[in-house]
Amino acid sequence: MSGKKEISRRTFLNYALMGTGGFLAAGMITPMIRFAIDPLLKHSAGGDKVAVGNADEFGPEPKRIDFKVHTKDGWYESETTMAAWVRKTEEGEILALSPVCKHLGCTVDWNTNPDGTKDQYFCPCHLGRYAINGENILGTPPLKPLDEYEVEVKEGKVYLGKVIPNPRQGVAG
Ligand code: FES
Repeated sequence: MSGKKEISRRTFLNYALMGTGGFLAAGMITPMIRFAIDPLLKHSAGGDKVAVGNADEFGPEPKRIDFKVHTKDGWYESETTMAAWVRKTEEGEILALSPVCKHLGCTVDWNTNPDGTKDQYFCPCHLGRYAINGENILGTPPLKPLDEYEVEVKEGKVYLGKVIPNPRQGVAG
């Protein structure tokens, strides 16, 4: 005897079949897994912006814009109507504010304060007030400024993206 372990023809065939089967199974299962999780991967990479008008439509006075956003969450697709208050700032930048009050989520309006205070956003739910660039007016219920949208101006058109925190501070009314 040589001392080496001999491998029988049957054992060799079993190994060969198992290897081939495993290779084929991996080839079939990998695309299935990829297909199953692909929408989830795509969702996390999102961030599309939506055109809401021409830049020259906006001046120093806030203008309310309603627009639709197509959302794809995994396999679920939907259309959501969003709103923004859009204006051109003193620096010539487009600023788009979310109308969602930072107190308890009601919708703010421009220049509707019943006490006649002008040039402010007003929240009718608990009399919250914000200045023209979204700064919360100190002494009113909201403790943070209105959120803003990511803005991109390309070839004269205004595109809005995600809602992001507004870095401005509260101001005295
Ligand atoms: S929800 Fe706007 S002030 Fe309370």
